[in-house]
Amino acid sequence: VQKQGVTLWFTGLSGAGKSTLANIMVERLRSAGRQVELLDGDEVRTNLTADLGFSKEDRDENIKRIAYVSKLLSRNGVVAITAAISPYHEARAKARAEIDDFVEIFIDCPIEICAQRDVKGLYAKAMAGEIPHFTGVSDPYEVPEDAEIVIPSHKHSPDESVDLIFEQLSRLGYPLLEMVTA
Ligand SMILES: Nc1ncnc2c1ncn2[C@@H]1O[C@H](COP(=O)(O)OP(=O)(O)O)[C@@H](O)[C@H]1O
Ligand SMILES: [Mg+2]
Repeated sequence: VQKQGVTLWFTGLSGAGKSTLANIMVERLRSAGRQVELLDGDEVRTNLTADLGFSKEDRDENIKRIAYVSKLLSRNGVVAITAAISPYHEARAKARAEIDDFVEIFIDCPIEICAQRDVKGLYAKAMAGEIPHFTGVSDPYEVPEDAEIVIPSHKHSPDESVDLIFEQLSRLGYPLLEMVTA
């Protein structure tokens, strides 16, 4: 198998499981000898885009920068995984247009379940009206219509979800777990 770069673009609500699944994928890809980099929204927002907030304009800029870095990485043979909410269709479409090898992975988890999980306690605050731009509560999430892969994360264990993602990636022409020889 040739060295093959690709951007795996996760999108989904807060708490849907993007970071959880992305981290498992990173582990498995490294074990298979792939060069991989994770651009996790929460982390990116503490450095590359620390100057940005959550208005539509700032969210679009956040996604634009993440897309730019993943383009540079994936065109050089790296598997770039992005795990950011990316709520707006147009911003995702622009990332897709800019990146040659681009696979959108929609982590499709109902908001009721995300809110039950409430990993960071943010849904409780948002529902109490304390967070003005919280995706799914006080800010929009535009459901993807052209994602190559859709994963109902609440119907599978994280490891099963990751199995499904790799299976579908192979079918799309990205057999990323086959050992890299060149
Ligand atoms: N079946 C499941 N799939 C993925 N995550 C799950 C599942 N069940 C519970 N969780 C939990 O849900 C949370 C998802 O949070 P996270 O991965 O940070 O989401 P996101 O990055 O999309 O905001 C994690 O705490 C994870 O352990
Ligand atoms: Mg996350």
